[in-house]
Amino acid sequence: MDFDFDRLEDRRNTGSLKWDVKENELPLWVADMDFKTAPAVTRAVMERASRGIFGYEIVPEEWYEAYERWWQNRHQFHIQREWLIFCTGVVPAVSCAVKRMTNTGDNIVVQTPVYDIFFHSIENHGRHVLENRLKYEGGEYSIDFDDLEEKLSHPQTTMMILCNPHNPVGKIWSRKELARIGQLCKKHHVFVLSDEIHCDLTAPGFEYIPFASASDICAGISMTCISASKAFNLAGMQSAAVVIPDEGLRQKMERGLNSDEIAEPGSFAVTAVTAAFNEGEEWLESLRQYLQENKKLVRDFLAAEVPELMVVSGPATYLLWLDCDRITNDAGRLCEFIREETGLYLSSGSQYRGNGASFMRMNTACPRARLEDALNRLNQGVQAFKTANFTNV
Ligand SMILES: Cc1ncc(COP(=O)(O)O)c(C=O)c1O
Repeated sequence: MDFDFDRLEDRRNTGSLKWDVKENELPLWVADMDFKTAPAVTRAVMERASRGIFGYEIVPEEWYEAYERWWQNRHQFHIQREWLIFCTGVVPAVSCAVKRMTNTGDNIVVQTPVYDIFFHSIENHGRHVLENRLKYEGGEYSIDFDDLEEKLSHPQTTMMILCNPHNPVGKIWSRKELARIGQLCKKHHVFVLSDEIHCDLTAPGFEYIPFASASDICAGISMTCISASKAFNLAGMQSAAVVIPDEGLRQKMERGLNSDEIAEPGSFAVTAVTAAFNEGEEWLESLRQYLQENKKLVRDFLAAEVPELMVVSGPATYLLWLDCDRITNDAGRLCEFIREETGLYLSSGSQYRGNGASFMRMNTACPRARLEDALNRLNQGVQAFKTANFTNV
């Protein structure tokens, strides 16, 4: 079956966070796709809506089965039913874990540059962010394990938040890397939260490894957040799952999720997610192919037209991480300039900390015609920036 990812949807004035921008602006910032979700999901949600009764919901058996089957078949990881808990989103689960699994003043390790909301979840609750900066050499990111061990060994470090695969650099961590992280965290009594929300958006031929599947140690010290919301564009459904193999940790988190009142689904959450996992696989495969071609289009265009911008992203996510150091080390200023000059709205890498200040993040999950428009605007913006003599070269 063919799916039409080229179709231009007008999302202005639809209450979309991404598209709540000026008339001339083209937003490629937040991780939200400009594609309709899988047709099977829309059908199931319409059918659910047609019942016309929206009372309190339970989490039915089909929800557990859909997650179990998907992870078993696609990621070769057997999630036991009792390990799974419904949650209204990954960010609510992260915030809850910060509160439940650590104390005020504790250190929480994150690998920067990384998804910025982690910092808010940590700092809003009076904990400290301890940055294990990813090493950046020859256009590649890798984990600095010596630094990681130093940060984990600090007596006040009690938790690590891992992003697997990694937003924004697009890396898929290997089994060996994950097992090593697990071993170090175990040694230093550090609890691991693995955020795997981007796991189904790998390039064709690339598969991610669930952290909890990397070793028994990893399974025993961790909680994993998974969801259909990135792969099927369902963020507004407010639905995710946490997976906690260890019973003690699970009971602690279950109390936290319940007392934060984030453990009950809205009327469409279960319907949308079960339809996605049970009937959306073919759509997802086409999407992965389309995204791969979009990313190639950006690489080819930049190599030919804006060679000063280097794409450093790995094979996961639809977010491209653009090194602009040859133009400026103030990506915030460059992003603002491009937005004012051309209307193209990208994310400044500085918000992800680490070495992000000389990077921009670009969301490529849109119809190709829109991406081409974005690339022309990007080229025009960078040339104008250079002409205005703002560069540091
Ligand atoms: C790494 C990561 N975690 C979590 C989220 C958001 O999760 P949710 O919408 O389920 O709260 C995002 C959204 O971009 C993300 O990139």
